[in-house]
Amino acid sequence: MTENISKTIKDIDKERLPVHIGIIMDGNGRWAKKQGLPRHLGHQEGMRKVVQIVEACNELGIKNLTLYAFSTENWKRPSVEVEALMNLLVVFVRKELRRLNENNVKIMILGDISKLPDLPMREVERAVGITSSNTGMTLNIALNYGGRQEVTMAIKDILRDVNKGNINIDEIDEKLISDYLYTKGQPDPDLIIRPSGELRLSNFLIYQAAYSEFWFSDVLWPDFKADHLYNAIVEYQKRNRRFGGV
Ligand code: FPP
Repeated sequence: MTENISKTIKDIDKERLPVHIGIIMDGNGRWAKKQGLPRHLGHQEGMRKVVQIVEACNELGIKNLTLYAFSTENWKRPSVEVEALMNLLVVFVRKELRRLNENNVKIMILGDISKLPDLPMREVERAVGITSSNTGMTLNIALNYGGRQEVTMAIKDILRDVNKGNINIDEIDEKLISDYLYTKGQPDPDLIIRPSGELRLSNFLIYQAAYSEFWFSDVLWPDFKADHLYNAIVEYQKRNRRFGGV
């Protein structure tokens, strides 16, 4: 799967950009191991890539970008690693919020951040609050996010509204279900990128990804460059999306 990343931004048809890109940022641990470094330094390098790729997407005119930063399953990792990831969130907000805000980026969170430690929760909420009226790219950070948890939450909320008489069972359709997800009001991801050689969805946007195109690569997330993004988009633009039709 090691691809030749020969495509550049010039090869992209700006009229046919994916509206929503999702990225499963994988391979930080293996990258660190390869360099003989502790895992948290892989995540730190991964955060640098977040900054670069957010910028590249914004410059390109991508409207929605979703980054899988911490899954509901990631709590099973050693506590030092969880703490390091939480700390990186704080560093990210403190270092990058001003520039993201100047670039009109709107930050949103997918996931249940009430379970986060106090400081990262407050910093993330601050980032969401400060950028809430921005009109440029929406940057979704999937944080304590799990697709099954999201669907479970949606089912419970829908049933509550049925019980209250706010909605009728016959009104439940795919669109209504979408409106009970964290991504309410946003288009489904057109393109999902997963580096690091793993070929799975790992509980990421499982309802929304029904017709997403996938781009996999062996590159580890800390080695991911804007050129990988451009290659993924060029590849996406060659696909024939039929959405079940002919
Ligand atoms: C998966 O790699 C990556 C994560 C669980 C964390 C991703 C987080 C960041 C890139 C940094 C913080 C993000 C933001 C938005 C500030 P892995 O550790 O599972 O890699 P491995 O499979 O090689 O062990």
